[in-house]
Amino acid sequence: MANLEVLFDRAAIAHRVAELGRQLSADYAGRELLVVGVLNGAFIFTADLVRALDLPVTVDFIRVASYREATCSSGQICLRQDLAEPVAGRHLLLVEDIVDTGRTLTWLKNHLLAHQPASLQVCALLDKRERREVAASVDYAGFPVAEGFLVGYGLDYCGRYRQLPDICHLRQ
Ligand code: PRP
Repeated sequence: MANLEVLFDRAAIAHRVAELGRQLSADYAGRELLVVGVLNGAFIFTADLVRALDLPVTVDFIRVASYREATCSSGQICLRQDLAEPVAGRHLLLVEDIVDTGRTLTWLKNHLLAHQPASLQVCALLDKRERREVAASVDYAGFPVAEGFLVGYGLDYCGRYRQLPDICHLRQ
């Protein structure tokens, strides 16, 4: 596929996911985590991250959609599927594949905090800090990334490329 250039290959991703798992396991030692993956993009990262955790874990997913141009965030967030698990009093780890403008993350944090968790932290594999439009902090970031449209390891372009094992730049 000529228009794809590998940015983080599967070995680099696996190495970083293992590091994040060790760090989270140490930080949350003695506590039980409710891991909340954000569909669709975070399904692969969530699956790998939970297997790197040495903690008692429950996994749930939330699905949101944001209306945007094909490669450009616009910020209108819509809840498509809420959590099945109760949130009150639990330690939540929100898992994202990428934080870009920060609008999705801000919306999700407000939505989850309204249900009064004991704590809420965010783990994002990719953190595109330069593009932030609203303040949205990531507590555990896999890789900081700059410009460019990324696909693979859960990230899509028009629904395609999510299955790629590496994270790639899509050249258009
Ligand atoms: C992506 C990603 C985040 C969001 C980040 O999801 O998974 O949820 O965009 O962008 P933001 O910081 O500008 O809000 P997307 O809406 O592309 O849907 P998907 O998870 O189904 O790919």
